Amino acid sequence: MRLKGKNALVTGSSRGIGRGIAIRFAQEGANVAINYVGSARAAEETLAAVTAHGVRGVILPADVGSVDDVRRLVDEASAALGPLDILVNNAGIEKHAPFWDVSEQDYDKVIDINLKGAFFATQAMVRHLRSGGRPGRIINISSVHEDLPFPNFAAYCASKGALRMLTRNLAVELGPLGIAVNNIAPGAIETPINTALLNDPRKLGALLNQIPLSRLGQPEDVAGLAVFLAGDEAAYVTGSTFVVDGGLSVNYQEQ
Ligand SMILES: NC(=O)c1ccc[n+]([C@@H]2O[C@H](COP(=O)([O-])OP(=O)(O)OC[C@H]3O[C@@H](n4cnc5c(N)ncnc54)[C@H](O)[C@@H]3O)[C@@H](O)[C@H]2O)c1
Repeated sequence: MRLKGKNALVTGSSRGIGRGIAIRFAQEGANVAINYVGSARAAEETLAAVTAHGVRGVILPADVGSVDDVRRLVDEASAALGPLDILVNNAGIEKHAPFWDVSEQDYDKVIDINLKGAFFATQAMVRHLRSGGRPGRIINISSVHEDLPFPNFAAYCASKGALRMLTRNLAVELGPLGIAVNNIAPGAIETPINTALLNDPRKLGALLNQIPLSRLGQPEDVAGLAVFLAGDEAAYVTGSTFVVDGGLSVNYQEQ
């Protein structure tokens, strides 16, 4: 077991990639705090899958777009599990609209959850680690769109691009505290965030044609890398982005 006895908080882990990470962490011996907004039932399913591995789990609803909520979330997670070792900033949303139609409300929501949420959850985690003089791991789930353009998702791309810079900056600032910070950049992963795409055979076929490994990714594909980055083998890894996309982002082809 690669995370035996570690305590992890995974934001947005009631479903999708976050759920995959929570379950995989539990399989490796970590206790897991499961955060979500929305369906409590989905969070309960994740908790059952986590505790089935013989570790402890707790469900903590909180909106990561609210600074008060993320501070409370870190406090409650450590109160429930004990001192935290790992934070995964996974909660994220996207809003589809041509750039000229993006509303202020949608812009704020995307930036608040994807960027401000990760920023202040990390700050709360760092304060928690510093107060105990302990090292830690921060893993941000960004996207291939921290680098690759994605027309009609301008705010999403801006949030993920900012997360890339935040990771590099914090790797430098937090390294002396023994805190490592890395990003995972998934490509197209089969989760509810992609429901519209999954229900559109034409778009899905066109996307699959661009993926050298010829399939969508699964949450488990992302979770395996998260385990590595959270574990001892990654002790000297910080400030980097690791792409998990079946080759999508390197697949430029002349038509
Ligand atoms: N699925 C993909 O293809 C893909 C690709 C690249 C990056 N990502 C990123 O991975 C992360 C997870 O995506 P997913 O596909 O699993 O999404 P999802 O929609 O399936 O799940 C999102 C999770 O985040 C939670 N959440 C949403 N808003 C929240 C908030 N304000 N506060 C707390 N929790 C909140 C939801 O409850 C849910 O558990 C996101 O950051 C997303 O940008 C996904």
